[in-house]
Amino acid sequence: MISANKLFVLLVLSVLSVCCSPTLYKPTLADVEAGKKTYPDLTMEQLTRGVRLYGDKCGSCHSLYKPKEITPARWAEMLPEMKQKAMLTDKEYELITRYLKSKNAAP
Ligand code: HEC
Repeated sequence: MISANKLFVLLVLSVLSVCCSPTLYKPTLADVEAGKKTYPDLTMEQLTRGVRLYGDKCGSCHSLYKPKEITPARWAEMLPEMKQKAMLTDKEYELITRYLKSKNAAP
């Protein structure tokens, strides 16, 4: 049985993790436009899911790299390896990759 206190803490944590992700990582319309060159069916919703997954799955072993901090070639090299490390499903991998590539390509 989970106590009311614990539930409250969980609630506060989940609200914090959604509302306060740094704007640096937040997907913008410019990212959607840039990403559409590679993924014509790209939507803002996909990027929003991508950034959440990125925060959830990729920050436990090292801090999160900013999308532009890593070159496209290095992302392409590291992402398949990190898919294994983070034990991502194909769907999660796709969303995280779309997010990182779009943000990386945006001006
Ligand atoms: C289980 C631990 C673990 C998880 C989870 C993890 N990483 Fe890593 N990551 C590492 C280690 C260890 C290295 C450095 C060693 C290497 O090159 O393999 C690394 C290196 C990297 C690098 C290379 C940085 C550079 O210096 O060029 C990138 C980019 C990266 N990770 C992205 C990610 C992404 C994206 C995810 C989520 C899908 C992720 N990581 C999840 C352990 C992890």
